[in-house]
Amino acid sequence: MPPVDIKKSWKEVNKERKAIRKNWKEKKLLKTLGLKKGFEGIDVNSEEINNTEFIEKLKNDVEQSEKTVKKKLRTISIAVPGSILENAQSVELKTYVAGQIARAACIYNIDEVIVFNDKGEGNDNKVKVLTEKNKNRACLQLARILQYLECPQYLRRHIFPIHNDLQYAGLLNPLDAPHHLRQQDEFPFREGIVSGVPIKKKHGSYVNVGLNKDVRVDKVLTPKLRVTVKLLQSKDGSKIQYGTVVPPSQPKLELGVYWGYTVRLADSLSEVFMNTPYKNGYDLTVGTSDKGFSVDKLFDNKEDNKQKDYKHCLIVFGGVDGLETALECDDKLSVDDVSLLFDMYVNTCPKQGSRTIRTEEAILISLAELRKLLFNDS
Ligand SMILES: C[S@@+](CC[C@H](N)C(=O)[O-])C[C@H]1O[C@@H](n2cnc3c(N)ncnc32)[C@H](O)[C@@H]1O
Repeated sequence: MPPVDIKKSWKEVNKERKAIRKNWKEKKLLKTLGLKKGFEGIDVNSEEINNTEFIEKLKNDVEQSEKTVKKKLRTISIAVPGSILENAQSVELKTYVAGQIARAACIYNIDEVIVFNDKGEGNDNKVKVLTEKNKNRACLQLARILQYLECPQYLRRHIFPIHNDLQYAGLLNPLDAPHHLRQQDEFPFREGIVSGVPIKKKHGSYVNVGLNKDVRVDKVLTPKLRVTVKLLQSKDGSKIQYGTVVPPSQPKLELGVYWGYTVRLADSLSEVFMNTPYKNGYDLTVGTSDKGFSVDKLFDNKEDNKQKDYKHCLIVFGGVDGLETALECDDKLSVDDVSLLFDMYVNTCPKQGSRTIRTEEAILISLAELRKLLFNDS
């Protein structure tokens, strides 16, 4: 980096530094791509080469591949209060509401569903173990049904013990997600559970991935662990199907395919933003309310569209009394105005006919309305 010229404003200095960094990054990428394509020894600094069509094409390729990777690495999380189940009259209806949320999450490729307590009780950060005693009942029930529906059918009986909360979950509409594969489906990745079949010490483990026979993986794993397996080409004549355990994000990264959501419990609204699985948290946060600004205005203003350049987006929904109540019940948050918690506070259904939109309806409406902002391909 060049030394700072004190006559220049910081804005100018930062701009120059940004340009230098961009140039350096571009050259580095070009070099990598050139080498990969067999153009070893290319001098990316040479004016002559920089002016060729070839370099332009490489630049475009790099830009495109950068965009593709960025797009695949992007995640969307939604936060929903468990209390919405308390509003349903029967166990069957509670189960159905949970099913609607799971379907919406799957339809819109949601990566994480956070079930939070908007009522304030059990706000004890010291309690680390999630047990029925210290967690809000409705939150647990919603989280359990969401997890159950996300899990491929062939694994459910191995992972979920019989539980009252799941009494009617089998009647719900299936998610029909890409990772819910049938035995005859051919796909390079499969979700599985480590089986207890003994194998020679240090020789790996067997994983039940919903095929006729368990798949043998290289890692020694604890039985009953849920894992994502990449199937390897069978060796000629071998009756054993081999595979390798990969991160659950691998299918999305490699093939751009949606691979389900994770479920997280949060004791309060503030915990939704904290305890995130992403290293730097969420870089685009959206609050939803009929008191927010109209979603139509979001697309009027080109400046606002910049916000689609996110890595981890979080969209938060309120319960029967809205997000204002969740804020009031949270003693860790000191802001007066709930909209200040978010980058955007949006009304996704301007001029609504019904006096109230239920949370499960608002999720579908909001994700549909925000689609252009969140799923932008450019
Ligand atoms: C029954 S409403 C809560 C009542 C309240 N009128 C509100 O929107 O704040 C439940 C939740 O649905 C979502 N919601 C309802 N109407 C909405 C709208 N027009 N735009 C965006 N979200 C809405 C919000 O997340 C809200 O907290």
